[in-house]
Amino acid sequence: MALRLPRVLVPIDLAEALRMLAQHPDACAVAGGTLALNPTQPMRPATLIDLGAIGHDGIEWSVAGELSLGGLVRIGDLAHAPELRQPAWGALIEAVDAMEPRVVRAVATLGGNLCSGGTFVGPLALLGARVEVQSRAGARWAEADAVALQPGELITRVVVPAPVRFARTHAAVLRRTPVGPALVGVALGERGGHCDIVVTGGNVRALRIGGARAGADLARSVAAAVLAAAPDGGLSGDGPWRSAVAGVLARRLAGMAQPRADAPARPDGRRHGPMWRPAAVDGPFWFRADVDDASLAVEVPAHATLTEALRAAGATQVKSGCGEGACGACAVLVDGCLVRSCLTLASRCGGSRIRTAAAPEHAGLATAIAAAGGLQCGYCTPGIVVALGSLACTAPRPLDAAAVAAELDGNLCRCTGYQQLVAAAAEALGREVPK
Ligand SMILES: Cc1cc2nc3c(=O)[nH]c(=O)nc-3n(C[C@H](O)[C@H](O)[C@H](O)COP(=O)(O)OP(=O)(O)OC[C@H]3O[C@@H](n4cnc5c(N)ncnc54)[C@H](O)[C@@H]3O)c2cc1C
Ligand code: FES
Ligand code: FES
Repeated sequence: MALRLPRVLVPIDLAEALRMLAQHPDACAVAGGTLALNPTQPMRPATLIDLGAIGHDGIEWSVAGELSLGGLVRIGDLAHAPELRQPAWGALIEAVDAMEPRVVRAVATLGGNLCSGGTFVGPLALLGARVEVQSRAGARWAEADAVALQPGELITRVVVPAPVRFARTHAAVLRRTPVGPALVGVALGERGGHCDIVVTGGNVRALRIGGARAGADLARSVAAAVLAAAPDGGLSGDGPWRSAVAGVLARRLAGMAQPRADAPARPDGRRHGPMWRPAAVDGPFWFRADVDDASLAVEVPAHATLTEALRAAGATQVKSGCGEGACGACAVLVDGCLVRSCLTLASRCGGSRIRTAAAPEHAGLATAIAAAGGLQCGYCTPGIVVALGSLACTAPRPLDAAAVAAELDGNLCRCTGYQQLVAAAAEALGREVPK
């Protein structure tokens, strides 16, 4: 049997994407890539269909009060959408906030999240959202927790009807398992004096629980309903564990059960994820980019990640840590946007301007961190310098330690305990003037 070499196909619009999926039923579509490119996934098919050239389908608010969200909308963009600043959509903003770290949500898409049973399934199911799924055969509609994609299908739109009086969500990734993170989510919304509850969790079906009584002892009533309903167990967590966690989340959520105040404008303004420059590659290809003002070129396999390409090109200041998006050691700026290079296809970044920890504008930061004892083994430092370099470009200065700590939510350091790191960085950023 002929061996099939890895390759990346790049459709220019939805119609072409659906045609390619029909022609290659074993291919994997890549939207944000945060899961599709993750090594925790069982297998990477030889053919990837990179949706990065299609553009980010919009957020619309109709006169009938419906909210329409494109399947390729980035989760990070939802946080800044004026359409979602009303209390009634609190559950969706809370789902954005629950998805951590921010650098992942800046590239991850709504379609990818629903497809992988993520944080948005619960609130969207609670709100009665309908999901549009398209294939070459046409379009169909499904409920948010019952999409069950078939080969050749893509999630193209999510339509949320007029909101309930209030809806809130709470989600937690609580432990790692051999098949990935175990996720439990609870969403709660009030209709006519009763609370509907939806419990979700990774690879198990959503559990809908109707009719907890709204009122003074709502917290107890919701928690009891969740425990009594006993959510199923799945590969990433057994039933009793899921049930206990859902009960705690539900009790906390019910304690906050009132319309959420208008979501405030985000202090860092609307921040988009990177604009990809996807290229179709059929086997090994030449990756070329401007890296810290040097032109680098290297031949890499079609499925190479940006970490692999940069390191193969000699940019070994870019570190490879967990390789699955969790530690931040591999962070780089692509055309000014912070990305996880381990979860980014190199073929998306050809011709980009890439800044690493060794870029001249980051020198002051690196020195300040070292001087303040903000590093020990130093393995995490390049990623931390890049993340803070991104903050220096986007946030007002001087900064306080809390803003720095928030920016570092996606960078793990096993040695320092963060305190010195955060203090040193806040001081350095207060006087740092990026190019
Ligand atoms: C460090 C880290 C933390 C994470 N934390 C969270 C979290 O807190 N909450 C959470 O919910 N998830 C989390 N995730 C999981 C994941 O990133 C998200 O679920 C994300 O939304 C996936 O979106 P994506 O666009 O990156 O999908 P991709 O990785 O591009 O694709 C994932 C899967 O969905 C398919 N797909 C993508 N788009 C579509 C579409 N439009 N139609 C049909 N199929 C599609 C792909 O073929 C693939 O099989 C985390 C991941 C990482 C690496
Ligand atoms: S996040 Fe990329 S190596 Fe850990
Ligand atoms: S200094 Fe060792 S991991 Fe951060």
